[in-house]
Amino acid sequence: MLKVGVIGCGYWGPNLIRNFVQINETEVARVADLDGSRLRHMKGLYPTIETTEDYRDIITDPQIDIVAVATPVRTHYRIALEALSAQKHVFVEKPIAASVREAEELIALAERNERKLMVGHTFLYTSAVRKMKEIIDADELGEIYYINSQRLNLGLFQQDINVIWDLAPHDISIILYLLGQEPHSVRAIGTSHINPAIEDIAILTMNFANGLIAFIQSSWLDPDKVRKMTIVGSKKRLVYDDVQPTEKIRIYDKGVEKPAHYNTYAEFPYSYKYGDIIIPKLDGAEPIHTQLSHFIECINNGAAPISDGKSGLQVVKILEAAQRSLCTGSSPVSIE
Ligand SMILES: NC(=O)c1ccc[n+]([C@@H]2O[C@H](COP(=O)([O-])OP(=O)(O)OC[C@H]3O[C@@H](n4cnc5c(N)ncnc54)[C@H](O)[C@@H]3O)[C@@H](O)[C@H]2O)c1
Repeated sequence: MLKVGVIGCGYWGPNLIRNFVQINETEVARVADLDGSRLRHMKGLYPTIETTEDYRDIITDPQIDIVAVATPVRTHYRIALEALSAQKHVFVEKPIAASVREAEELIALAERNERKLMVGHTFLYTSAVRKMKEIIDADELGEIYYINSQRLNLGLFQQDINVIWDLAPHDISIILYLLGQEPHSVRAIGTSHINPAIEDIAILTMNFANGLIAFIQSSWLDPDKVRKMTIVGSKKRLVYDDVQPTEKIRIYDKGVEKPAHYNTYAEFPYSYKYGDIIIPKLDGAEPIHTQLSHFIECINNGAAPISDGKSGLQVVKILEAAQRSLCTGSSPVSIE
Protein backbone atom coordinates (compact mmCIF):
# COMPACT_ATOMS: atom_id res chain seq x y z
CA MET A 1 0.00 0.00 0.00
CA LEU A 2 1.47 3.35 -1.07
CA LYS A 3 0.72 6.32 1.20
CA VAL A 4 -0.27 9.56 -0.45
CA GLY A 5 -0.25 13.18 0.68
CA VAL A 6 -2.27 15.67 -1.36
CA ILE A 7 -1.33 19.36 -1.23
CA GLY A 8 -4.09 21.76 -2.32
CA CYS A 9 -7.76 20.99 -1.65
CA GLY A 10 -9.40 23.77 -3.68
CA TYR A 11 -11.38 23.09 -6.85
CA TRP A 12 -9.27 20.27 -8.32
CA GLY A 13 -7.43 18.64 -5.38
CA PRO A 14 -10.57 16.85 -4.08
CA ASN A 15 -10.79 14.96 -7.40
CA LEU A 16 -7.27 13.60 -6.83
CA ILE A 17 -8.12 12.70 -3.22
CA ARG A 18 -11.33 10.88 -4.22
CA ASN A 19 -9.51 8.83 -6.87
CA PHE A 20 -6.51 7.97 -4.69
CA VAL A 21 -9.03 6.82 -2.04
CA GLN A 22 -10.70 4.58 -4.64
CA ILE A 23 -7.49 3.02 -5.99
CA ASN A 24 -6.73 -0.25 -4.18
CA GLU A 25 -2.96 0.26 -4.02
CA THR A 26 -3.06 3.73 -2.42
CA GLU A 27 -4.17 5.23 0.87
CA VAL A 28 -4.52 8.98 1.37
CA ALA A 29 -2.77 9.62 4.68
CA ARG A 30 -2.69 13.44 4.83
CA VAL A 31 -3.97 16.45 2.95
CA ALA A 32 -2.79 20.07 3.20
CA ASP A 33 -4.27 23.45 2.39
CA LEU A 34 -3.65 26.99 3.62
CA ASP A 35 -7.40 27.39 3.96
CA GLY A 36 -8.79 25.75 7.10
CA SER A 37 -12.32 25.64 5.72
CA ARG A 38 -11.16 23.43 2.81
CA LEU A 39 -9.50 21.09 5.33
CA ARG A 40 -12.67 20.89 7.45
CA HIS A 41 -14.61 20.05 4.29
CA MET A 42 -12.16 17.23 3.42
CA LYS A 43 -12.25 15.93 7.02
CA GLY A 44 -16.05 15.82 6.75
CA LEU A 45 -15.78 13.66 3.62
CA TYR A 46 -12.89 11.46 4.83
CA PRO A 47 -12.77 11.41 8.66
CA THR A 48 -9.67 9.19 8.87
CA ILE A 49 -7.45 11.47 6.77
CA GLU A 50 -5.13 13.80 8.70
CA THR A 51 -5.20 17.47 7.70
CA THR A 52 -2.62 20.23 7.99
CA GLU A 53 -2.20 23.87 6.98
CA ASP A 54 1.55 23.35 6.50
CA TYR A 55 2.41 21.27 3.42
CA ARG A 56 5.85 20.58 4.90
CA ASP A 57 4.14 18.22 7.38
CA ILE A 58 3.45 16.02 4.34
CA ILE A 59 6.88 16.39 2.80
CA THR A 60 8.69 15.54 6.05
CA ASP A 61 6.41 12.59 6.86
CA PRO A 62 8.58 9.46 6.35
CA GLN A 63 5.45 7.31 5.95
CA ILE A 64 4.39 9.13 2.78
CA ASP A 65 5.54 7.71 -0.57
CA ILE A 66 3.69 9.97 -3.01
CA VAL A 67 3.01 13.71 -2.97
CA ALA A 68 0.30 15.08 -5.27
CA VAL A 69 0.32 18.83 -5.88
CA ALA A 70 -2.89 20.68 -6.78
CA THR A 71 -1.98 24.21 -5.75
CA PRO A 72 -1.73 27.36 -7.97
CA VAL A 73 0.86 27.12 -10.76
CA ARG A 74 3.34 29.57 -9.21
CA THR A 75 3.77 27.19 -6.23
CA HIS A 76 4.25 23.92 -8.19
CA TYR A 77 8.03 24.19 -8.54
CA ARG A 78 8.84 24.93 -4.91
CA ILE A 79 6.54 22.21 -3.51
CA ALA A 80 7.55 19.58 -6.11
CA LEU A 81 11.25 20.37 -5.60
CA GLU A 82 10.97 19.91 -1.83
CA ALA A 83 8.97 16.69 -2.24
CA LEU A 84 11.47 15.19 -4.73
CA SER A 85 14.34 16.22 -2.44
CA ALA A 86 12.59 14.29 0.35
CA GLN A 87 12.59 11.17 -1.92
CA LYS A 88 8.84 11.24 -2.69
CA HIS A 89 7.30 10.29 -6.02
CA VAL A 90 5.56 13.43 -7.26
CA PHE A 91 2.39 14.03 -9.23
CA VAL A 92 1.98 17.72 -10.17
CA GLU A 93 -1.07 19.28 -11.75
CA LYS A 94 -0.73 20.96 -15.13
CA PRO A 95 1.25 22.95 -16.12
CA ILE A 96 4.14 21.24 -14.39
CA ALA A 97 5.86 24.54 -13.54
CA ALA A 98 5.83 28.25 -14.33
CA SER A 99 8.97 28.24 -16.54
CA VAL A 100 11.18 25.99 -18.64
CA ARG A 101 14.03 26.40 -16.17
CA GLU A 102 11.86 25.22 -13.28
CA ALA A 103 10.54 22.23 -15.26
CA GLU A 104 14.08 21.21 -16.26
CA GLU A 105 15.25 21.36 -12.64
CA LEU A 106 12.38 19.15 -11.50
CA ILE A 107 13.15 16.57 -14.21
CA ALA A 108 16.86 16.54 -13.31
CA LEU A 109 16.12 16.11 -9.60
CA ALA A 110 13.61 13.30 -10.22
CA GLU A 111 16.22 11.48 -12.34
CA ARG A 112 18.98 12.02 -9.77
CA ASN A 113 16.81 10.76 -6.91
CA GLU A 114 15.27 7.96 -9.02
CA ARG A 115 11.74 9.13 -8.24
CA LYS A 116 8.77 9.26 -10.62
CA LEU A 117 7.60 12.68 -11.71
CA MET A 118 4.28 12.92 -13.52
CA VAL A 119 2.16 15.86 -14.66
CA GLY A 120 -1.66 16.00 -14.72
CA HIS A 121 -2.24 16.11 -18.47
CA THR A 122 -5.58 14.50 -17.69
CA PHE A 123 -6.97 14.41 -21.22
CA LEU A 124 -4.27 11.94 -22.33
CA TYR A 125 -6.06 9.42 -20.12
CA THR A 126 -9.52 9.84 -21.66
CA SER A 127 -10.84 7.07 -23.88
CA ALA A 128 -11.64 9.71 -26.54
CA VAL A 129 -8.06 10.95 -26.86
CA ARG A 130 -6.70 7.40 -26.77
CA LYS A 131 -9.08 6.42 -29.57
CA MET A 132 -8.00 9.48 -31.58
CA LYS A 133 -4.36 8.45 -31.17
CA GLU A 134 -5.19 4.95 -32.45
CA ILE A 135 -7.01 6.43 -35.46
CA ILE A 136 -4.16 8.81 -36.33
CA ASP A 137 -1.45 6.17 -35.83
CA ALA A 138 -3.39 3.83 -38.16
CA ASP A 139 -3.24 6.63 -40.79
CA GLU A 140 -7.04 6.68 -41.11
CA LEU A 141 -7.08 10.47 -41.47
CA GLY A 142 -4.18 10.57 -43.94
CA GLU A 143 -1.76 13.48 -43.87
CA ILE A 144 -2.94 15.94 -41.22
CA TYR A 145 -3.39 19.44 -42.62
CA TYR A 146 -4.57 21.30 -39.54
CA ILE A 147 -6.06 21.03 -36.06
CA ASN A 148 -8.47 23.54 -34.56
CA SER A 149 -9.08 23.34 -30.82
CA GLN A 150 -11.47 25.47 -28.78
CA ARG A 151 -11.73 25.54 -24.99
CA LEU A 152 -14.17 28.26 -24.00
CA ASN A 153 -16.37 28.95 -21.00
CA LEU A 154 -17.45 31.68 -18.60
CA GLY A 155 -14.54 31.56 -16.10
CA LEU A 156 -13.06 30.15 -14.03
CA PHE A 157 -10.90 33.30 -13.74
CA GLN A 158 -7.41 32.76 -12.31
CA GLN A 159 -5.49 35.41 -10.33
CA ASP A 160 -1.92 34.54 -11.22
CA ILE A 161 -1.94 33.16 -14.78
CA ASN A 162 -3.57 34.14 -18.05
CA VAL A 163 -6.06 32.06 -20.02
CA ILE A 164 -3.31 30.44 -22.14
CA TRP A 165 -1.47 29.09 -19.08
CA ASP A 166 -4.78 27.98 -17.56
CA LEU A 167 -6.60 26.29 -20.44
CA ALA A 168 -4.21 25.70 -23.34
CA PRO A 169 -2.03 23.09 -21.51
CA HIS A 170 -4.87 20.65 -22.18
CA ASP A 171 -5.01 21.35 -25.93
CA ILE A 172 -1.23 21.47 -26.28
CA SER A 173 -0.71 18.19 -24.44
CA ILE A 174 -3.42 16.46 -26.51
CA ILE A 175 -2.02 17.76 -29.82
CA LEU A 176 1.62 16.84 -29.02
CA TYR A 177 0.49 13.37 -27.91
CA LEU A 178 -1.59 12.81 -31.04
CA LEU A 179 1.06 14.05 -33.46
CA GLY A 180 4.13 12.70 -31.65
CA GLN A 181 6.07 15.81 -32.63
CA GLU A 182 6.79 19.31 -31.34
CA PRO A 183 6.07 22.53 -33.25
CA HIS A 184 8.99 24.52 -34.67
CA SER A 185 7.35 27.86 -33.85
CA VAL A 186 4.50 29.39 -31.88
CA ARG A 187 2.54 32.60 -32.08
CA ALA A 188 -0.07 34.05 -29.73
CA ILE A 189 -2.56 36.86 -29.72
CA GLY A 190 -4.67 37.77 -26.69
CA THR A 191 -6.49 40.59 -24.96
CA SER A 192 -7.58 41.46 -21.41
CA HIS A 193 -11.09 42.63 -20.61
CA ILE A 194 -11.77 42.01 -16.92
CA ASN A 195 -8.34 42.24 -15.26
CA PRO A 196 -6.12 44.54 -17.37
CA ALA A 197 -2.97 42.58 -16.46
CA ILE A 198 -4.25 39.12 -17.40
CA GLU A 199 -5.33 38.03 -20.90
CA ASP A 200 -8.76 36.40 -20.72
CA ILE A 201 -9.12 35.48 -24.41
CA ALA A 202 -6.35 34.23 -26.68
CA ILE A 203 -5.50 32.36 -29.84
CA LEU A 204 -2.31 30.36 -30.00
CA THR A 205 -0.96 28.89 -33.24
CA MET A 206 1.64 26.15 -33.44
CA ASN A 207 3.48 25.50 -36.70
CA PHE A 208 4.80 22.00 -37.31
CA ALA A 209 6.84 20.42 -40.10
CA ASN A 210 5.24 19.98 -43.56
CA GLY A 211 2.89 22.94 -43.17
CA LEU A 212 0.79 21.32 -40.43
CA ILE A 213 -0.73 24.05 -38.27
CA ALA A 214 -2.70 23.90 -35.01
CA PHE A 215 -4.94 26.70 -33.72
CA ILE A 216 -5.92 26.83 -30.06
CA GLN A 217 -8.59 29.25 -28.90
CA SER A 218 -8.95 29.83 -25.15
CA SER A 219 -11.52 32.00 -23.38
CA TRP A 220 -12.87 32.72 -19.90
CA LEU A 221 -15.54 35.03 -21.35
CA ASP A 222 -17.65 32.78 -23.54
CA PRO A 223 -21.33 32.19 -22.65
CA ASP A 224 -21.10 28.50 -23.59
CA LYS A 225 -18.86 25.69 -22.48
CA VAL A 226 -17.04 24.55 -25.63
CA ARG A 227 -14.36 21.85 -25.76
CA LYS A 228 -14.06 20.95 -29.37
CA MET A 229 -11.18 19.76 -31.53
CA THR A 230 -11.36 19.32 -35.31
CA ILE A 231 -8.62 17.41 -37.09
CA VAL A 232 -8.55 17.75 -40.85
CA GLY A 233 -6.61 15.16 -42.80
CA SER A 234 -6.14 14.37 -46.47
CA LYS A 235 -8.37 11.26 -46.21
CA LYS A 236 -10.88 12.01 -43.44
CA ARG A 237 -11.88 14.61 -40.86
CA LEU A 238 -12.38 13.95 -37.14
CA VAL A 239 -14.39 16.04 -34.69
CA TYR A 240 -13.92 15.50 -30.94
CA ASP A 241 -16.57 17.22 -28.84
CA ASP A 242 -15.76 16.60 -25.20
CA VAL A 243 -18.91 18.32 -23.95
CA GLN A 244 -21.08 15.53 -25.43
CA PRO A 245 -21.95 12.94 -22.79
CA THR A 246 -21.59 10.13 -25.35
CA GLU A 247 -20.59 10.03 -29.02
CA LYS A 248 -17.67 12.38 -28.37
CA ILE A 249 -15.86 11.49 -31.62
CA ARG A 250 -17.17 11.58 -35.18
CA ILE A 251 -15.08 10.58 -38.16
CA TYR A 252 -16.28 12.13 -41.39
CA ASP A 253 -15.40 10.33 -44.61
CA LYS A 254 -15.54 13.69 -46.33
CA GLY A 255 -12.85 15.27 -48.38
CA VAL A 256 -11.77 17.19 -51.38
CA GLU A 257 -9.38 16.24 -54.15
CA LYS A 258 -7.84 18.12 -56.98
CA PRO A 259 -7.91 15.71 -59.95
CA ALA A 260 -4.53 15.18 -61.57
CA HIS A 261 -6.14 15.23 -65.03
CA TYR A 262 -9.38 16.65 -66.29
CA ASN A 263 -10.94 16.72 -69.73
CA THR A 264 -13.86 19.07 -69.42
CA TYR A 265 -14.39 22.33 -67.60
CA ALA A 266 -17.15 20.63 -65.57
CA GLU A 267 -14.54 18.33 -64.00
CA PHE A 268 -12.39 21.30 -63.02
CA PRO A 269 -11.08 21.96 -60.42
CA TYR A 270 -12.00 19.81 -57.40
CA SER A 271 -13.97 16.70 -56.60
CA TYR A 272 -15.76 16.49 -53.28
CA LYS A 273 -16.48 13.28 -51.40
CA TYR A 274 -19.43 12.98 -48.99
CA GLY A 275 -19.13 9.56 -47.33
CA ASP A 276 -20.26 7.96 -44.07
CA ILE A 277 -19.92 9.36 -40.57
CA ILE A 278 -18.51 6.85 -38.06
CA ILE A 279 -19.01 7.25 -34.29
CA PRO A 280 -16.52 4.99 -32.47
CA LYS A 281 -17.61 3.32 -29.22
CA LEU A 282 -15.71 4.64 -26.17
CA ASP A 283 -15.47 3.25 -22.65
CA GLY A 284 -16.65 5.40 -19.76
CA ALA A 285 -13.68 5.06 -17.37
CA GLU A 286 -12.94 8.17 -15.29
CA PRO A 287 -9.76 9.75 -16.74
CA ILE A 288 -8.36 10.82 -13.34
CA HIS A 289 -8.67 7.23 -12.13
CA THR A 290 -6.91 5.93 -15.26
CA GLN A 291 -4.26 8.64 -14.90
CA LEU A 292 -3.47 7.95 -11.24
CA SER A 293 -3.57 4.16 -11.72
CA HIS A 294 -1.04 4.60 -14.53
CA PHE A 295 1.18 6.62 -12.15
CA ILE A 296 1.06 3.82 -9.57
CA GLU A 297 1.85 1.20 -12.26
CA CYS A 298 4.87 3.26 -13.34
CA ILE A 299 6.09 3.55 -9.74
CA ASN A 300 5.74 -0.22 -9.34
CA ASN A 301 7.25 -1.33 -12.66
CA GLY A 302 9.78 1.46 -13.29
CA ALA A 303 8.27 2.59 -16.63
CA ALA A 304 8.12 6.26 -17.62
CA PRO A 305 4.61 7.76 -17.34
CA ILE A 306 2.94 8.88 -20.60
CA SER A 307 2.77 12.39 -19.12
CA ASP A 308 6.20 12.37 -17.47
CA GLY A 309 8.31 15.40 -16.60
CA LYS A 310 9.53 15.67 -20.20
CA SER A 311 5.97 15.85 -21.50
CA GLY A 312 5.33 18.57 -18.88
CA LEU A 313 8.45 20.42 -20.10
CA GLN A 314 7.33 20.28 -23.78
CA VAL A 315 4.07 21.97 -22.82
CA VAL A 316 5.80 24.63 -20.69
CA LYS A 317 8.22 25.39 -23.57
CA ILE A 318 5.23 26.22 -25.75
CA LEU A 319 3.50 28.24 -23.01
CA GLU A 320 6.65 30.25 -22.42
CA ALA A 321 7.10 30.88 -26.16
CA ALA A 322 3.43 31.91 -26.41
CA GLN A 323 3.95 34.36 -23.54
CA ARG A 324 6.96 35.85 -25.35
CA SER A 325 4.90 36.16 -28.52
CA LEU A 326 2.08 37.91 -26.61
CA CYS A 327 4.61 40.39 -25.20
CA THR A 328 6.15 41.14 -28.60
CA GLY A 329 3.06 41.96 -30.65
CA SER A 330 2.33 38.34 -31.66
CA SER A 331 5.64 37.76 -33.41
CA PRO A 332 6.54 34.10 -34.13
CA VAL A 333 8.78 32.51 -31.49
CA SER A 334 10.94 29.48 -32.32
CA ILE A 335 10.85 26.38 -30.19
CA GLU A 336 14.30 24.91 -29.62
N1 LIG B 1 -6.11 18.43 -14.74
C1 LIG B 1 -7.16 19.22 -14.83
O1 LIG B 1 -8.09 18.99 -15.62
C2 LIG B 1 -7.24 20.43 -13.95
C3 LIG B 1 -8.44 21.11 -13.77
C4 LIG B 1 -8.48 22.21 -12.93
C5 LIG B 1 -7.31 22.65 -12.29
N2 LIG B 1 -6.15 21.96 -12.51
C6 LIG B 1 -4.89 22.41 -11.89
O2 LIG B 1 -4.96 22.17 -10.48
C7 LIG B 1 -4.21 23.16 -9.79
C8 LIG B 1 -5.12 23.83 -8.76
O3 LIG B 1 -6.17 24.48 -9.42
P1 LIG B 1 -7.56 24.78 -8.69
O4 LIG B 1 -8.48 25.22 -9.76
O5 LIG B 1 -7.93 23.66 -7.79
O6 LIG B 1 -7.14 26.05 -7.81
P2 LIG B 1 -7.84 26.54 -6.45
O7 LIG B 1 -7.36 27.93 -6.25
O8 LIG B 1 -9.29 26.24 -6.46
O9 LIG B 1 -7.18 25.59 -5.35
C9 LIG B 1 -5.84 25.68 -4.95
C10 LIG B 1 -5.76 25.37 -3.47
O10 LIG B 1 -4.38 25.33 -3.09
C11 LIG B 1 -4.28 25.92 -1.81
N3 LIG B 1 -2.89 26.37 -1.62
C12 LIG B 1 -2.26 27.40 -2.21
N4 LIG B 1 -0.97 27.46 -1.81
C13 LIG B 1 -0.80 26.45 -0.92
C14 LIG B 1 0.28 26.00 -0.13
N5 LIG B 1 1.47 26.61 -0.18
N6 LIG B 1 0.10 24.95 0.70
C15 LIG B 1 -1.11 24.32 0.75
N7 LIG B 1 -2.19 24.71 0.03
C16 LIG B 1 -2.03 25.75 -0.80
C17 LIG B 1 -5.29 27.07 -1.81
O11 LIG B 1 -5.65 27.44 -0.50
C18 LIG B 1 -6.44 26.43 -2.59
O12 LIG B 1 -7.38 25.82 -1.74
C19 LIG B 1 -3.68 24.12 -10.86
O13 LIG B 1 -2.39 23.73 -11.19
C20 LIG B 1 -4.61 23.89 -12.03
O14 LIG B 1 -3.99 24.17 -13.28
C21 LIG B 1 -6.10 20.87 -13.29
